[in-house]
Amino acid sequence: MQDESLSRQIRQKVDIVDIIGERIPLEKKGKNYFGVCPFHDDRSPSLCVSPEKQIYTCFSCHATGSVFTFLTNYENITFAEALQYLGEKVGVDTKNIHIKKQNPKYQQYYDLYDLTVKYYQNNLSTKLGETARSYLEKRGITEEIIKEFQIGLSLRGIDDLTKLLILKKYDLTDLNIMGLSNGDHDVYSNRIMFPLYDPNGRVVAFSGRVYASEDSNKYVNTKETPIFVKGDCLYHYHIAKQECRISKSVIVMEGFMDVIRASTIGIKNTIALMGTALTNEQIRLIKRLSNQIILCLDGDKPGRNAAYKIGEIFLKEGIEVKVVTLPHDDDPDSFILKEGKESFLSYLENAVNYNDYKIKVIREDVNFNSIQETSDYINRVIEEISVIDDVIRCEIILKKLAKDFNIGYNTLEKKFLNLRKKNQKPKVQLEVKKVSLSRKNKYRKAMEQVVYFMLTNEWVISEVEREKLLISDLDVRILVKEIIYYYKKYGSVTIADFITYLSDKDELLISLNSIINASYRDQLDKETLYLYFGVIREDSINRQIKVLEKKLREELDPKRQAMIGNEIRALRIGEIKNG
Ligand code: CTP
Ligand code: MN
Repeated sequence: MQDESLSRQIRQKVDIVDIIGERIPLEKKGKNYFGVCPFHDDRSPSLCVSPEKQIYTCFSCHATGSVFTFLTNYENITFAEALQYLGEKVGVDTKNIHIKKQNPKYQQYYDLYDLTVKYYQNNLSTKLGETARSYLEKRGITEEIIKEFQIGLSLRGIDDLTKLLILKKYDLTDLNIMGLSNGDHDVYSNRIMFPLYDPNGRVVAFSGRVYASEDSNKYVNTKETPIFVKGDCLYHYHIAKQECRISKSVIVMEGFMDVIRASTIGIKNTIALMGTALTNEQIRLIKRLSNQIILCLDGDKPGRNAAYKIGEIFLKEGIEVKVVTLPHDDDPDSFILKEGKESFLSYLENAVNYNDYKIKVIREDVNFNSIQETSDYINRVIEEISVIDDVIRCEIILKKLAKDFNIGYNTLEKKFLNLRKKNQKPKVQLEVKKVSLSRKNKYRKAMEQVVYFMLTNEWVISEVEREKLLISDLDVRILVKEIIYYYKKYGSVTIADFITYLSDKDELLISLNSIINASYRDQLDKETLYLYFGVIREDSINRQIKVLEKKLREELDPKRQAMIGNEIRALRIGEIKNG
């Protein structure tokens, strides 16, 4: 366990809603905030964050904890690292905390890339960078953009970078592993260099674009390295992370030039897929950004096909998908350059719902002179809308179909209703916790409730102490002891602080999590509390009686038998006080 009072101090200064909200879209409902739980494969907002209690709980997978638990699990960092991160955020000095450094080799790789970025940037501003600069200028990429996106230049065929890095004592093997050198030659020659960033904003690779040569390969990207998996890269993710929280949506584009262009007109909740293939890791990362995706891919056929495919994937992930269809020969970059900000904004505003988009796309290739194709089309449309929740929208579409193709509405509706019945999946209930709660017997429930109330109503702590309750279940007994200890030491206790305090006591944490997950009521009066005390006492007496009865059966001495019998009787009529 780290320094308790330090973690307590930091915990009390941060708001768990901010910290989780920076990572997962949260929506306020009543007192609490809800989002999609990142700790299991989920689509519905089953993660509940309580600003009052400063904890989160998942109704579905029962993940529970404080802001520290969240960060260690979500960011895959140690408790000490979470402490340091939050300490920095709220201005609490954490210098004395010992933190195990990450693999120093990786740090060296990050440093290597930082150095390389600077080298490329510098090239661009030299005389040798003139042609590249004028190319960028022609594309409307200003000095400001060049700086912001750290755009640079690799020089033609002189292996300058490799030489420089060797001079800086880097190992040639490492330069090869890291995709900067090929043997003792530079990998990149005479290309405009765009740094690629990881989700934490560190430069981990490059994409080099031709600008003046006959090389037919438009972009050359860094190969896979220990810190870079090309397929998983999402350009601009580290910026979008912040921006998407504000805009409540993420705009997905194909190329990083599109993202850069959008940024120049103030649209920054964007990422680029770096092509149109989508990996599972990319899906996972994008899901973290927002519940709403706006696909704004290239206007050409491949771009439209990709929107069709990618939209379906995210729809299945339970994310709202909208699609912007740009003119055939445009991508966001060229469109913004030609038509300007207002025009692009209005395209974004008019993004169509994915289901509507799909119907539109299906229609594009149909030959309506063919009866077969026409009926296939109608069937397909009905199939598509049978999964749409909004029945009014369905009716509008059906009526339009009926009118357009002069078919009886009832015929279409019948087919629609049949499909709908088949497609309707039973809604998943969020009632798991109720089941496990009801499996606990009334004694266990009473014990747990007392623990819960000790953490939510401080006056309960002294009542429990005064009562000297005998608690049967060991885990609850220890929890009660620990809460009393904690309260005496700090003068106050909250669930969040107590979880932090228990952070290295796994078994107690499991018990506490189960108690928190049971979602007991928060409000309590003395009368109710004493009802619980009564139940706990009854449990304890019953158990004592059981022990005595066993003793009685084994006892041979009649005098002792009588004594035990008396004891049991006394317990039964409650003559003997507990404790
Ligand atoms: N891409 C790539 N290799 C290629 C072509 C494209 O890696 N040979 C990736 C790049 O990451 C690029 C994205 O796919 O950003 C989109 O490609 P494309 O639409 O061709 O690039 P643009 O953004 O249009 O780039 P530019 O405007 O500079 O031509
Ligand atoms: Mn382009």
